[in-house]
Amino acid sequence: MLKTIQSVTEMQQCADELRRQGKRIAFVPTMGFLHEGHLSLMRVGRRIADELVVSIFVNPAQFGPGEDFETYPRDMDGDLDLCRQEMVDIVFMPSQSDLYPNTYETTVRLDSLPNHLCGISRPVFFTGVATVVTKLFNMVKPHAAVFGEKDYQQLLVIRQMVQDLNLDVEIIGSPLFREPDGLAMSSRNNYLTPQQRPAALSLYRSVCKARELVQSGISDSAQIISEAQKIICAYPENEIDYLSICDMQTLDKVETIDRPVLMALAVTVGTVRLIDNSILEPGR
Ligand code: PAJ
Repeated sequence: MLKTIQSVTEMQQCADELRRQGKRIAFVPTMGFLHEGHLSLMRVGRRIADELVVSIFVNPAQFGPGEDFETYPRDMDGDLDLCRQEMVDIVFMPSQSDLYPNTYETTVRLDSLPNHLCGISRPVFFTGVATVVTKLFNMVKPHAAVFGEKDYQQLLVIRQMVQDLNLDVEIIGSPLFREPDGLAMSSRNNYLTPQQRPAALSLYRSVCKARELVQSGISDSAQIISEAQKIICAYPENEIDYLSICDMQTLDKVETIDRPVLMALAVTVGTVRLIDNSILEPGR
């Protein structure tokens, strides 16, 4: 039976009780409007733990002014059905006033990792994520938490934060899940019109092209970036925020691909901001 919890205190008491019983808790934090990408994380959590907790909270602290906090898609009934289907034990849905009362003043901020990729155009984003995830960890008290490689930089930020703050939770990365046509699954895909779909798909096509070029022996990042940009810029509704080839750990730019590297990109299609990424592995 799926249990839903809204109160922070009740969540903490429930986590304490589960731990007292020797249960292993896996946690999947989300902002809801669940799709197969989220479900793939839940399946990982289900496999490794006795109790699976999913949180649904659209976190205002990670949205900047003018971003889509107010219009972020929400469907609580649909989300609960999907959680039931995936045999989730607890859905934790705290309220905004419980997480951020008027007296709230603490943040968790990283020095370096946010100065790359998404952190440049979204300056408050990673502080908002690191802060809310720390808070959620203190409420759900998980042994392990699952995050998607779709948000590769977010996963690195969480791993770094857990290490720096000595948080006692294992972080598990789970592969990027795609639609059948290759589009990376995202709650924001819901905003795309059918006409924008081919433009959105150009992110994945550019990633495939880059993989192919690197496999064929091309190691010059600038050349690969230029080919990838051509595919995306063929659509006038696309505007590239960034398209980078970078180190998998530090996110520093890599000029010559002599080892597996990360290609990461963010593109606004019309008004919809989409991200995608892939590891590029040099061919032999
Ligand atoms: P949200 O965008 O809802 O994503 C929740 C989790 O699902 C994240 O770990 C994300 O990487 C993963 N995810 C989303 N789409 C995916 C896909 N196509 N394949 C694999 N995993 C996917 O990320 C957040 O929420 C928030 O920043 C959060 C961590 C909950 C903090 O507010």
